[in-house]
Amino acid sequence: MPTKLMASRRVFLQSALAAAIATRLTPARAAGLLAVPEVDSLTVQVLVDAATFGPFLADENLPGLRLERSSGKPEPRMSRHALMGEFGLSLLARSKRGAETRSVMVDFGYSPEVLANNLTQLGIDTQQLDAAVLSHGHLDHYGGFAAVFGANVPAKHLPLYVGGEETFCERVAFIGSPPPVMGALDRQELARAGLDTTIAPAPKVIADHAFTTGRIPLETFERPAIPTQMRPGVGCDAAALAPAKQHETQLADDGEHELATCYAVKGLGLVVLASCSHRGVLNSIKRAQAISGIQKVHAVMGGFHLVRPRTDEEARRTVAELVKINPTYVVPMHCTGEVFIAEAQRLMPGKVLRPYVGNRFTFAA
Ligand SMILES: [Fe+2]
Repeated sequence: MPTKLMASRRVFLQSALAAAIATRLTPARAAGLLAVPEVDSLTVQVLVDAATFGPFLADENLPGLRLERSSGKPEPRMSRHALMGEFGLSLLARSKRGAETRSVMVDFGYSPEVLANNLTQLGIDTQQLDAAVLSHGHLDHYGGFAAVFGANVPAKHLPLYVGGEETFCERVAFIGSPPPVMGALDRQELARAGLDTTIAPAPKVIADHAFTTGRIPLETFERPAIPTQMRPGVGCDAAALAPAKQHETQLADDGEHELATCYAVKGLGLVVLASCSHRGVLNSIKRAQAISGIQKVHAVMGGFHLVRPRTDEEARRTVAELVKINPTYVVPMHCTGEVFIAEAQRLMPGKVLRPYVGNRFTFAA
């Protein structure tokens, strides 16, 4: 083949390949329920979760994901001061769109001591936060909120979004004999800690870059399975609850107020942060797809709650359905459970990434 023809053929193949990659990386977007913003990149850092790890894991560069196992601080990873783990969840989502950056904290972990320690060790300045989202009113997600600003509460409070009045109702654990009272989230204490709460039961854009699912409809086989009961009128205003709940003294939690926090990342698709998935992780994903009009799921991260009162069979069925959704990455945290993780590793090899406190997941095309 003449040199000139070979060169033009090479150019043609290169541009065809570029077009194919561009098509693959540009998820189809139908009309959604909300004008969802698209960010250029998103970094999710684990602030609180159960697992920590030493300095032995290597960073990874994967398609559409850079996974940094180090904390990002310049000091040696081994020091006298360690990151701490506990059974709670807190994530920090930093996003970029052009020159604009935003930082959103999702949940606050279980205890102020652990969140405060990890914020210090990770060098995070909470004065730089733009907003926070509390996924639901359980102690393992709100318990550490007092650590967000500590004693240095700023003059301008941080906007906090929750999904419903139920966030503030007292909870009683369903597991244990006698069942322990988990307590209630006090909105005056939230205000004193520097958080300015808005109840947002509908999908909402957060800090210009993120969006919440609002209430999550039950569209898959998943049903709420929550190991707590709720006391209307204790901590919360009973008159602001659904009519069927207002006159009960104690009833099963149905997670009606639970939110997932989501991002649309340019060229990649959705990143869904499903904090505890009491309405079901599949239902959370379906809601994010319906709101955004974007079908492609690049990553689903968070607690998927496939432990008691859900069964091992439900955990395996959830994996089978998640295979059909075909996310690029699955990052199981917090209350997900080992049966789901083992089954997902078996059926989705290469997609499952185990997170540790301090890890940073950066999604960018
Ligand atoms: Fe949880």
